Amino acid sequence: MINNNSHNCMASSQESIIRTTNSLTDRLRRNQTLTDAEFQQILQTQEEESLEYLYQNARQVCDIHYGKNIYARGLIEFTNYCRNNCYYCGIRRENRKAERYRLTEEDIINCAKEGYALGFRTFVLQGGEDIYYTKEKLGHIITQIKKFYPECAVTLSFGEWDYDTYQYWHRCGADRYLLRHETADQIHYQGLHPHEMNYFHRMNCLEQLKETGYQVGAGFMVGSPGQTVETLVKDLRFLEKFQPHMIGIGPFIPQKDTPFAGKASGTLSMTRKLLSVLRLMFPKVLLPSTTALGTIHPQGREMGILSGANVVMPNLSPVNVRGKYLLYNDKIHTGCESAQARQQLAERIHLLGYKLCMDRGDSKMQTCISEKKKEDFHESCTEQQPCAADRTQYP
Ligand code: 5AD
Repeated sequence: MINNNSHNCMASSQESIIRTTNSLTDRLRRNQTLTDAEFQQILQTQEEESLEYLYQNARQVCDIHYGKNIYARGLIEFTNYCRNNCYYCGIRRENRKAERYRLTEEDIINCAKEGYALGFRTFVLQGGEDIYYTKEKLGHIITQIKKFYPECAVTLSFGEWDYDTYQYWHRCGADRYLLRHETADQIHYQGLHPHEMNYFHRMNCLEQLKETGYQVGAGFMVGSPGQTVETLVKDLRFLEKFQPHMIGIGPFIPQKDTPFAGKASGTLSMTRKLLSVLRLMFPKVLLPSTTALGTIHPQGREMGILSGANVVMPNLSPVNVRGKYLLYNDKIHTGCESAQARQQLAERIHLLGYKLCMDRGDSKMQTCISEKKKEDFHESCTEQQPCAADRTQYP
């Protein structure tokens, strides 16, 4: 028989955990930061009541800055060739089972055309690091899209290149660049990537992208092999210092033909906690509820939104290649995440009390380069004579 005393004791210790965690949420909301130990504590919380409180606060903060809008981006996965060999990724160079494809310039422009007709005003060109798309070739594609759709934003998600190339694409009209840092712990980084890939190089690319004047997105997978609460705190500290405009996070999901085939997926609950913590740290950041989150749970994307996310990225790639951009197992590609199912997606978002917003949806965070400086930057550089904006080395 459990006596009343020990029962009461358990209840009160649980209440005290809830009280402490909720006060961490309050403080994070107020100050946008916590100590390392406090971040760890909040990420380790299991109490449903505290988690609900965390999610609610994140949602409220997002509503203050973005209202009830959830921004839509049309995703064009234009190549699944990749020169890299990341251990986690299904389109890594050594995966002979991946069915490779590349879209032509015409295909890509047609995707944008279809997307435009569906109402999209941001196009995200995402691909593996495929050297077939030279600086000039991709530059031409960007120029064409901007020529046809000048009011639309073009976002690149195309990996690590040199400063000159980043500047060139920016001058061609690319507005934003997504490059997840993957982890801010150097040892963890080396556990996810082969030696030829370098943590400092990636961090340097992020600095250069910002310096160029892009709205920049960083981010990481949740639950990637070797990730701990300590490495996660380093991610939060890196983001705090870097101040990205966008942060992409989603659960790691194993892909059957990679070295990480047998590893466990990241969890819904850790992803939700991190989305909320990130929202409280960066009230104005653009934070997608990702396809990976929608893959691990049928309501994953909705739950992401209810934890503070405010962007969705439906797929605009041609239907015949959609099943080939397989970064991980069971990636959803036939349902609500397709851009053509926009209405269905809008309804699902409406049911949450939100509305799918088709505007360009620029970041409300301050850019590191002021608008004035950006104009000077454009005026002072020509294609032959690249601008002299200083490279900053990381760290
Ligand atoms: N599971 C989840 N996300 C993945 N990515 C790559 N492989 C996987 C995987 N197995 C993510 C990486 C990359 C982004 C484009 O997709 O974080 O930066």
